[in-house]
Amino acid sequence: MAIRKVGVVGCGLMGSGIAQVSAQAGFPTIVREVSANALEKGLGSIRAFLQGGVDKGKLAAADMEKALANLSGTTDFAALADCDLVVEAATENLSLKRELFSSLDSRCAPSAILASNTSSLSITEMASFTKRPGRVIGLHFFNPVPLMKLVEVVRTVSTDDAVLAEVNGWVKGLGKTAVNCGDSTGFVVNRLLIPYMLDAVRVFEQGLASRDDIDNAMKLGCGYPMGPLLLGDYVGLDTTYSISEIMFDEFKEPRFAAPPLLKRMVLAGLHGRKTGRGFYDWSTNPPS
Ligand code: 3HC
Repeated sequence: MAIRKVGVVGCGLMGSGIAQVSAQAGFPTIVREVSANALEKGLGSIRAFLQGGVDKGKLAAADMEKALANLSGTTDFAALADCDLVVEAATENLSLKRELFSSLDSRCAPSAILASNTSSLSITEMASFTKRPGRVIGLHFFNPVPLMKLVEVVRTVSTDDAVLAEVNGWVKGLGKTAVNCGDSTGFVVNRLLIPYMLDAVRVFEQGLASRDDIDNAMKLGCGYPMGPLLLGDYVGLDTTYSISEIMFDEFKEPRFAAPPLLKRMVLAGLHGRKTGRGFYDWSTNPPS
């Protein structure tokens, strides 16, 4: 397999998870953040997750050490130059992606594969920011990355067959399952999940049932690990809102339109777990 060294751009919630699972799978992995503080925060969350695994008896201490030995951090973009695969997991902002992809394209070897963890922006558009559209692909991980088994592998009309095969092999090497799909906004999971989450906010807004009854209905009635309102808080209501806006813009279908309550909660800073409050109060454990 041609993928030996892996780079990750961004060490936030998703980037840190991707860097962690890559390092745990034995790939020398370097993760880049914009500042030393942000980098230390991201690396700290990886160490804490691995330590949590050791404490729970899920991970041998020696395997934690091996994973950490495979992992390094940088604030220098040039340090990604010798990676065979770079996964971009930066903020969902197209002009930032343009800057990152054209910078990666000029620094990395022509053989390197450039991937994005975007949940809703177009991989084809990111490929157009490079001179190697055949070697650009989507790699959409799920939160929490170390625990969620799925990766959506998104090919554009330009992605080379060999690149798809290499990336599918890498995902398998992480111990995850790849689902291959085309480059359509939201791919498979968010195409189905976002309308469901928006509908949950709508029925809550309409007073059909209480927050807890909506969440318990879907958790206990359908066997989902979390109800949709708790999941919205967990993913981030701002993130859910922003994905819905992008999907509505693309498809112009009412099912992707954000309900007014969601918009207002986002405007009020009630983003869920990340701000301490959304549909739930996250200052308690479990959220109440
Ligand atoms: N290291 C290793 N294993 C760990 C661990 C750690 N640090 N922490 C927890 N685990 C293990 C636990 O031991 C447990 O293993 P077991 O099933 O063998 O007993 C398992 O992971 C689950 O952990 P917990 O028991 O602590 O927690 P829960 O059972 O409450 O599960 C959850 C937590 C996995 C987050 C679950 O609630 C869940 O699956 N929620 C839904 C998440 C989801 O839908 N994510 C997708 C969001 S959409 C998205 O990301 C796309 C984006 O574009 C919007």
